[in-house]
Amino acid sequence: MSPPPDVAARSPRPTRDLGALTVPAIGYGAMELGGAYNPATDDATALAALSAAIDAGCALVDTSDAYGPNELQIAAFLASGRRRDEIVISTKFGMRPFPDAPRHRFPVAYGTGEFVINAEARFVRPYLERSLERLGTDHVDLYQPHFTDPEVAIEDTVAAMVPLRDEGLVRHLALSNPTVDDLRRAQTVAPIAAVQVDWSMWWPIDAELLAHCEATGVGIVAYSPIGRGFLTGTVTAVGPSDFRASIERFTPRHLAENLDRFAPLRALAADAGVTPGQLALAWLLHRSPVVVPIPGSRTPAHIRENAAAGTITLTAEQWTRVDAAVEAFVPVGRVG
Ligand SMILES: NC(=O)c1ccc[n+]([C@@H]2O[C@H](COP(=O)([O-])OP(=O)(O)OC[C@H]3O[C@@H](n4cnc5c(N)ncnc54)[C@H](OP(=O)(O)O)[C@@H]3O)[C@@H](O)[C@H]2O)c1
Repeated sequence: MSPPPDVAARSPRPTRDLGALTVPAIGYGAMELGGAYNPATDDATALAALSAAIDAGCALVDTSDAYGPNELQIAAFLASGRRRDEIVISTKFGMRPFPDAPRHRFPVAYGTGEFVINAEARFVRPYLERSLERLGTDHVDLYQPHFTDPEVAIEDTVAAMVPLRDEGLVRHLALSNPTVDDLRRAQTVAPIAAVQVDWSMWWPIDAELLAHCEATGVGIVAYSPIGRGFLTGTVTAVGPSDFRASIERFTPRHLAENLDRFAPLRALAADAGVTPGQLALAWLLHRSPVVVPIPGSRTPAHIRENAAAGTITLTAEQWTRVDAAVEAFVPVGRVG
């Protein structure tokens, strides 16, 4: 086994706790490198983005076995001379079922269509073995079902993860996209370090889930924390092959209206001397001591800009104005 990551000790930036795992306050979502909104990046772009993220202190790197070649891109990054203990790897399973496995369908929470998952206990170890091989590592730091399988008791999925943790193949157990009930049930089986949920200025977290996480010391990994790019104020159109084109809020009519409605928050960011995206990330950190946002980007300059949001300080009065503007910001169209 490799020694456990010692990222917190070396990080020049603020840290947060995901259960017993300490990570930098701003992480990095690597999904887009594998191709989500745009086609997968080439190897050099992925390497440059991952290097920028780690060098900027965003050592929590989030991926999934369902993000195209993303796990392989992380393996190439590790093979480029980086130490395994420089990076806290979070990966997910279930949305890329083995060919002969039943595909359990459920509607997507946003956009259109449906997803498939299979989080049956019998597949959990093979999923992990596949991810470890793809990632080129002997352990991952956080491991989680990508969504709760509607046809499998969450207790059964989590129970199958426990031996993997006991063998040191997985350091901490987590859940992605759980309800608060899923989390409570999972916690009857094993400690859960973190949940990963969609949370940003334009997509609220379930209040009960937030309260339960804060009360029980479960970290919240906030995904799409800059609203899939919208909260930077720079997305004025998305192409037809971009996944966001299937999300109502990004259709041309809604996007223009939403940018208008977002103007007060842009103005507050300018007043504070930060970019709108930085304000969106800092706002999440301000909203809860257990949250760790994982902004995604393929652009080193954006990654550094996002990382810098971890050290932004606003006065109480400024936060009061920002909180009020977030409350008043009601986008049109569904994200979910
Ligand atoms: N568990 C789940 O079901 C789930 C679902 C979705 C996402 N996630 C995780 O969350 C991570 C982040 O979510 P996300 O990628 O959906 O959304 P996001 O982080 O809110 O936004 C990413 C988009 O914002 C743009 N961007 C980032 N920083 C920018 C900046 N400073 N200025 C201008 N544009 C900027 C990126 O484009 P550039 O590349 O041009 O910077 C990209 O298009 C993913 O990588 C993934 O790890 C998890």
